[in-house]
This record gives sequence, structure tokens and C-alpha cells, in this order.
Amino acid sequence: MNSIAQQLKTRFEKAFTAAFGESYSGTDPMLAPAGNPKFGDFQCNAAMSLGKKLGKPPRAIASTIVENLDIADICETPEIAGPGFINLKLKPAYLEAQVRAIAIDPRLGISQTEAPQRIAIDFSSPNIAKEMHVGHLRSTIIGDAIARILEFQGHDVLRINHIGDWGTQFGMLIAYLREVHPEALTTADALDLGDLVAFYRQAKQRFDTDETFKETARQEVVKLQAGAEDTRRAWKLLCDQSRREFQVIYDLLDIKLTERGESFYNPLLPAVVEDLTNLGLLVESDGAKCVFVDGFTNKEGEPLPLIVQKTDGGYNYATTDLAAVRYRIKEDGAKRLIYVTDSGQSNHFAQVFAVARKANWIPEDVEIVHVPFGLVLGEDGKKSKTRSGDTVRLQDLLDEAIVRARKDLEERLVTEERHETEEFIANVSHVVGLSAVKYADLSQNRASNYVFSYDKMLALQGNTAPYMLYAYVRVQGIRRKGEINFDNLDAGAKVILQSDAELVLAKHLLQLNEVVNAVGGDLLPNRICQYLFELSQKFNQFFEQCPVLQSEEPLRTSRLILCDLTARTLKLGLGLLGIQVLERM
Ligand code: ARG
Repeated sequence: MNSIAQQLKTRFEKAFTAAFGESYSGTDPMLAPAGNPKFGDFQCNAAMSLGKKLGKPPRAIASTIVENLDIADICETPEIAGPGFINLKLKPAYLEAQVRAIAIDPRLGISQTEAPQRIAIDFSSPNIAKEMHVGHLRSTIIGDAIARILEFQGHDVLRINHIGDWGTQFGMLIAYLREVHPEALTTADALDLGDLVAFYRQAKQRFDTDETFKETARQEVVKLQAGAEDTRRAWKLLCDQSRREFQVIYDLLDIKLTERGESFYNPLLPAVVEDLTNLGLLVESDGAKCVFVDGFTNKEGEPLPLIVQKTDGGYNYATTDLAAVRYRIKEDGAKRLIYVTDSGQSNHFAQVFAVARKANWIPEDVEIVHVPFGLVLGEDGKKSKTRSGDTVRLQDLLDEAIVRARKDLEERLVTEERHETEEFIANVSHVVGLSAVKYADLSQNRASNYVFSYDKMLALQGNTAPYMLYAYVRVQGIRRKGEINFDNLDAGAKVILQSDAELVLAKHLLQLNEVVNAVGGDLLPNRICQYLFELSQKFNQFFEQCPVLQSEEPLRTSRLILCDLTARTLKLGLGLLGIQVLERM
């Protein structure tokens, strides 16, 4: 379904043709939401620039546009204001019909894309033998939301987990474990990830201080790359171990990913270097093979190379990413490549993309973007750490959210003198706790750092998951109280928009399509949060001002339709963010 703005745009384009001739049919009506609701809902700002072009006063242009504008079914008579703004006020009858139409649409008016694409989105992507940290949590939550939105638009989305499962660190780790914990290399589950992380740290220390150990570690890498059986088996065991622990988090957060780690691209790396050589793009610098692209410099202002093969012949993180770019375009057939990582990697991606472009590996019709996000900070405004200075374990962080949600709930049950089963309490705490974490992350503009605060994210008021969930629950309360079956509301019933609160709510409900599709473009899920937050507020105002169950027909059914539509919008919108709703809380 076309959004209101879209429908208006079409009418304006017709008016431009009628008024100024065919060559003006494509003129942008420059529609914007009205600056002040007193003047209506939208304003058209095109008369000013058209006036300049046509050498006529903008107000005269505005009158000519209005004379040619056939819009009576949508708006009241347009009014011209100031230098030549055209103010538009939507007719209640039009809004009523629009609301009716989205209410019977399972997609609630969100259009399906006309040009479905295959989209590869690279997100989460933790590293083996290292704990998943809050940065990966952000990537996981944001990436999943973006994937859900694109899927809902009708795209074919590949959710790729680019796990760090290859490289020199394995040589180090395997060499060290051979010494101190050989059974870990032959038996599954001899260690847990916590131990593995500790061993990794110790191995790194040995590597940095002990030359003989360094050499042994190097040989393990060579053996791994050559496919030596016992080293490979050890490597696989370590990967499985980490994988299982990552899966716990993914299950908790309901995240689907296809693992395609760095090791997957290993066989494709020599060809990357070879092709860059044949293209004449490789430069040897201190024995390393590099590509220089314009615009990349180090702190001293000297040209910064992208190293694709080190002096010892080993490949880099960047080489793997170049291979991955090629694979996703050529083998996967992706037309849009999205990478969700912290903004600390912005330069890395910019440089990889620039090299791939220079090598002509990115066709014109392929879009490649890095979707950066800021840091997670503790309430003291510093990078979040535990008291002992370690990074916070994700599992602990999520468990804590559930525990705190439970505490809040139990307190509320006491005040409200309610008795609920353990099953109810456990489920509500689980959903509220995890939703709160996801929502707190998604509701910020991802580019900024955000302060992680359990108190804020679990608050029942404000732009939080509990506030949104509560609005949904409120509608379900109405349903239960009135013994309403929303699916059986009179199919022919009219939506009646009389009071201001109804009109405001209806107009907001009608914006869902536009918001979701905009996010499909700019990949800023916080705009959906903002939309849902405002929806909840507008619904609450409506609910305070307009009796629902107490009102007479046909108003009663009309208001029930608004309630149900609000609830379904919340459910769908939160669903796009990976957040589930509750019937009661
Ligand atoms: N494993 C990396 C990290 O933890 C993130 C990988 C992102 N994806 C990529 N294709 N480079 O920082």
C-alpha cells in the first residue's frame, strides 16, 4: 500500500504537469510534515524553487499548483501561507478509510519490496577462544534487527556469522595446550570457554616473551594450514567448544545465523593476492605485499597500505575480507553487502572496500556498506568492565537483566496483591529482561556510544521495552475485560475518527509503512523504536480520553479496531526488532 505521502506526491506530480507542462511532471513536491499541526498535516514547499525557475512570484506559483491539484478526496481545501507554502489537512473520512484498509491487511500496510534482492549481512562474528563481548552483543542485536526488517520487506537475506576461527592465535593456543593441557586437544569438553580464554591469555604472554615458544607456535600454524591431522583435530575441538557457548547466547536471544568463519575463505586467499598482482596493484614494502589506495594515511600523514600478505607469507584479516567480498558477490549473488561492527573498524572496511573497488570487484549494481556502532559504556561513562577490570561476560550480563526484571515483577505483584504461578513469573522476567537489553541498544542511534543501565532499560516509563510491552498488555486487558474476539470484529464496521486523540493515533498508525521502509534504506532501527514509543504514548492518550468498552456502537467497535490495530502494530514493530510481546505482565 502506498503511504499517504506517496499518494500526495502522485497527485502533486499530476498538478505540476497540468500547470507547467510535461517537463515538470517529475518535480519533487518537497512534502514535509506540517511545522505546526494547527496548519494541517503536510506542507508542500515546492513553490519557492519553482518560482525561481519560472521567474514568477512563489505565491502565484502556489495558486497555480492548487488550482490544478485534484486532491479533494484526501485533503480539505489547501491553504497558501507565507512566501508560498501549501498547507494540507487530511480529511477524517480519508483517514478512516486508510485505517480500515491497513486493519484488514496482515502486513498492516507495510509494502513488500518491488525489487527483492539477495542481501548478505555480516553480523555478530565473535572470535574463537575469546569470550563474546558487549561489542559482539551490539552487533548481534543490531544485525538481527536489520536482517528481520529486510526479510520482512521481502528480500532474500543471508545472515553470515564471520567468526574469527583462523590465524596465528590458534598456533599459539594449540602449542600452549599441548604443553599444559594436552587432553583438551583430543577430548571434547575438557575445558570450558572460561578456561580457554585464560589459556589464550597465558599463551599470548608466552608468545610475546619466549622465542622458542614463538617458533613452536609458528610451526603449529603451518601445520594447521597444511592440514596436519592432529593439529586440525585440535583446532576443530576448540572451535566446537566456543561454538557451543556462542549458541547459548544465540538461543537466549533468538538469533539465527549461518556460520561462515574466516577459515572458510582460507583456500581463496592466494587467488586474491594473485589477482591483485596481475592487476598491477600490489606493492612490496619491507617484504610485505600491500595495496595503496588514495586517501588513507597513518598518524604521520604517510600513505597507509592495506597489507594483504605478511613477510612470513601469512595472510591478514583484510585479505580474508577481500576474499569474502568477492565470494558474496560472485558465489552468493548478493547485491547488497552489509557489515555490522563497532565504529573502530570503520577504517578497515573503508580501506577494504576501496581496494575491492580499485580492483573492479564491486559491480555498479552492488552496494557495499559498513554499519558502524558506538561503544557500550558503564554508568560511570567509561567502557563497561567488571569490578576486577575484566570485560563483562555476556551470559552474566543477560542473566542479570532477567534477575532484575524478576525482582521488579515480584515487587509489583506484592503491591498489586496479585498471585502468579512460578511459570508466569519466570516467563515474564525472561521476556522483559532480554527485551529490555535489546531495546535499550536499538533505541539509541547506533552511531553513538550508549550507557548500559539496568535501571533505565527496565523502567516502566520512558522509551523502554517495558513501556512498549505494557501498552500491548493494556490492549489485551481490554480484550479480556470485554470478552472481545478481535478477529471477529464486524468486518464491515466503520472506523470513526472524531476526537483529537483518535485522529492523532490514526495518523500515527498510518506512518508504519514509511518508517519501516526508510529503515530498510538507512539501517537505523532506532527510528522504529521512536515510532513505537510515540505510538504507545498516543495510544495511552487515546485510552485516557476515549472510553472504549463503555462507549455506544458504532463508536465502540471503531475504538476496538484502533486498540487492536495499535496492539498489532506494536507486536509487528517489536517483532522486527527481535522482541516478543506478552499477553500479561
Ligand atoms: N571477528 C571480528 C571481531 O571480533 C568481527 C568480524 C566482522 N566481519 C568481518 N567480515 N570482518 O572484531
